[in-house]
This record gives sequence, structure tokens and C-alpha cells, in this order.
Amino acid sequence: MAVNLIGKDILGIRELSAEEIYQLIETAMVLKRDRQIGRSHELLKGKTLAMVFQKPSLRTRVSFETAMTHLGGHALYLGPDDIKLGKREDIDDIAEVLSRMVDLIMARVFEHNTVEELAKNSKVPVINGLSDFEHPTQIIGDFMTILEKKRRLEGLKLAYVGDGNNVANSLIFGASKVGMHVFIASPKNYEPKEEVIQKAKDLAQKTGAIVEITDDPKIAVEGADIVYTDVWTSMGQEAEKEERRRIFQPYQVNMELIEYAKPDVIFMHCLPAHYGEEVTKDVSRSKHSVIFEQAENRLHSIKSILVHVAYK
Ligand code: CP
Ligand code: NVA
Repeated sequence: MAVNLIGKDILGIRELSAEEIYQLIETAMVLKRDRQIGRSHELLKGKTLAMVFQKPSLRTRVSFETAMTHLGGHALYLGPDDIKLGKREDIDDIAEVLSRMVDLIMARVFEHNTVEELAKNSKVPVINGLSDFEHPTQIIGDFMTILEKKRRLEGLKLAYVGDGNNVANSLIFGASKVGMHVFIASPKNYEPKEEVIQKAKDLAQKTGAIVEITDDPKIAVEGADIVYTDVWTSMGQEAEKEERRRIFQPYQVNMELIEYAKPDVIFMHCLPAHYGEEVTKDVSRSKHSVIFEQAENRLHSIKSILVHVAYK
């Protein structure tokens, strides 16, 4: 199937096909290599990206902004106090106005329906830079990193230990689409939502992926090729921080837990990390850790996403 993402919104991994995921990674790899050998591109010359942020960011903001610079375009940062998304004026009006002025929109929002509403009313592609439901640009860079390290995605075992959050949802959708086995270990009541698991299991029937939920981190990590974790308290959940810290304590990724995985396991984290909570610093600095390559690949994969969706 030919892959054509021109003009498309990227709201979630849920809406991407396996072919589209692989195509985005392949282009990212080409752009990464070109950057390394000093070959530059002006693929987005004259284009402007509006970056709407309701929440803080290091990697996503810097990746999108640097990607536009490297590709000859321009990025416009609109922080929480600039346009006060959904407070100062309606989201549909913002989408209408922005899409008459810029070529691309990226939005990091609290509620997923905000990015859906933006996309519905925008004439230019809208890219989800993280919502409470999905973090699609993260997973393209993550799968690129896994491919670089393991040379395949299909048939690997990914253990995600921690909160059933946005990153977990996107990993589950992505894994089930490409045939990667995904084992989630979360405390009771913090698992990914039933609709996510059900959708992933449906997808997995076609690809042969195994999708399993457990409350035992050791079961999830046993024989894993990849161990992945994320913060226990996501942005917007700060009021629950203390309670979560207590509940998630047995879900820390430490060297003892890593021992249950394959000897060549890679450790991944989307970052930012809260060392001493979801992961120990020694794991993050161990031979298993690929967290900084993973972070760098955000840049290359976001470039790829921008190039693929940009209007000609
Ligand atoms: N992983 C990630 O999205 O990082 P930021 O929140 O710093 O953008
Ligand atoms: N789950 C985290 C991811 C940060 C990149 C959050 O939403 O805050």
C-alpha cells in the first residue's frame, strides 16, 4: 500500500497504519544520516509551523523548532500564556485563524478532544505533540530507536512498567500494529483503559502480537527485549503526586528488575525522568539504557513527520 500522509493530521498512533509507521521511520533514518554527513535539505522552505503548548516541554518543543530550522522553515512558539487555548477564545476560532496564516500546527494539550477539535477546524495538518490520551510523535522516535538497536520490531517483547498513561497507550497501539508483543505492568486502577486494550487486542489478531496486562512487573519484564517506563505523575495530575508515589513504589525499574529481562535488554524512557521514582539513575546510566539516543531521535522523526504531512 502506498503511503501518502500529505495534508493528514497526526493525532494518534491509533490512526496510523503499520506501513505509515515504517515509512515515517525510514524517512527519519534518511534525514538522520543526511544530517550526520552534512547534507542539508530545504524541504520546508517558506513554511511556518505554529507550536501551541498548554504544558511545558523540552524535547518536543526543541525537536519541532529545530526541525523547522534545519529544513528551511520557521517555527512559532505559542506558550500557555500566549493564546490561552480554550480560555481566551474558542478552539474552532483559533484553528480557523491559525490555518489561514501558517502551514502546519503542532499542539500539546491537556485533553485529547482539544487537539481533535483543532484538527476538525483546521485547513492545515495538525500534529498532536502530546495529549492525555496519546503521544504519537514520541512513539515514532521510539520505534526508530528500537529498529536501530534490534533491527526489527515484529516479535520483540516490550515491557512497559508503570502508569497506563498517554505514552503507554501510544506504545500499545504501535506495538499491536507492527506485531510487537507488549506487556504492561500497572497497579490496579492505573492500567490503560479497557477501550485501549480491546482495540490493541483486535489489531493484534492480525499481526500476531501479544497484548497482556498484569500487576506484576516481574511477569512483564521476564525475557523482555525492551523495558520502558514513564513518570508516575503526568503533567496535569500533580495533585495526585503523593498518592501515586506511594501506590507505584513496587513498580520502580531498578537493576534488580532489569535482571529478569534478556541480557541484551534495552531500557527506554520518553523523559523527563524522576530518578528514584519510576527508574533509578543507575539503570538510566547502565549499558542497557538508550534514553538519550531515544531523545535525539525525536528530532529526526519529527522532521520526517513534518515533511510527510506538509502541503506541497
Ligand atoms: N518526551 C517528551 O515529550 O519530552 P518533553 O515533555 O520535554 O517534550
Ligand atoms: N506521561 C508524561 C509524558 C511526558 C513526555 C506526561 O504526560 O506528562
